[in-house]
Amino acid sequence: MLDVEIGNEVVLLANVGGEIHAIGAWCPHQGTALALGTLRENALSCWAHLWRFDVRTGDAIWPPMARVVPGYRLRVYPVRVEGDNVLVSTLRSLKKRPDS
Ligand code: FES
Repeated sequence: MLDVEIGNEVVLLANVGGEIHAIGAWCPHQGTALALGTLRENALSCWAHLWRFDVRTGDAIWPPMARVVPGYRLRVYPVRVEGDNVLVSTLRSLKKRPDS
């Protein structure tokens, strides 16, 4: 795993079977650096209290409570790989207005 600074954000890059995923770098539990955690296949374990997240979706895996409580999800960033370059978009999606 590798954390990189993009603008004002820190993004964590994770390689799962050759596929690069980009997620928020801070644990949604208590804000520690997820780069210090352990990645096993698609499951990232936070070093602090061992909560686990799926780096492909951002969903919490453990503890079960974290799967249902809003706010315990990692932000997932779109990634595109072009040759040796990994392109990550930090733009937030725009919601379409009902009148447009
Ligand atoms: S800060 Fe990550 S599990 Fe608690």
